[in-house]
Amino acid sequence: MLSKTIEEALNKQIRIEAESSQVYLAMAVWAEVKGLEGISNFMYDQSDEEREHMLKLVKFVNERGGHALISELNAPNITFNSFQEMFEKLLAHEIFVSESINDLVHISLQEKDYASHNFLQWYVAEQIEEEAVARTILDKINMIGDDKGGLYLFDRDIQQLAVVSAADTPVQ
Ligand code: FEO
Repeated sequence: MLSKTIEEALNKQIRIEAESSQVYLAMAVWAEVKGLEGISNFMYDQSDEEREHMLKLVKFVNERGGHALISELNAPNITFNSFQEMFEKLLAHEIFVSESINDLVHISLQEKDYASHNFLQWYVAEQIEEEAVARTILDKINMIGDDKGGLYLFDRDIQQLAVVSAADTPVQ
């Protein structure tokens, strides 16, 4: 059985994961409108992954006798000045999510909720992976700068990154 404190904290994370899915969906749409299909597909996949992260939490809360809250979401950013800015926001968002997961792990220990603590380890590992992918992409984008040819090639290559990251992070 979940304590009220941990239930509230998990529900807060459910909202963050749902908002993350919307954040990346908006990025996917923007990239698609700009004609960069590879980047767009990568973002659509990211958005789906975030929904999986949310669902995994929803199931966990309900299985442990809590009530998962499906709440109103903040609207995401829908336009960007550049792909560089978009990927900077992606990394910043993942760092924000990692901090939130860390807080959640801390709360689980305070509550002596070792089942939640164990469950959350999957998210700890996932965040390491997601931050690493976001950093790799941003490094590449920073190298490309304003070079249209470089961006075109990157749009093709990002598919590989998407495949690798999806294979490395199975959702149970
Ligand atoms: Fe589920 Fe990318 O945080």
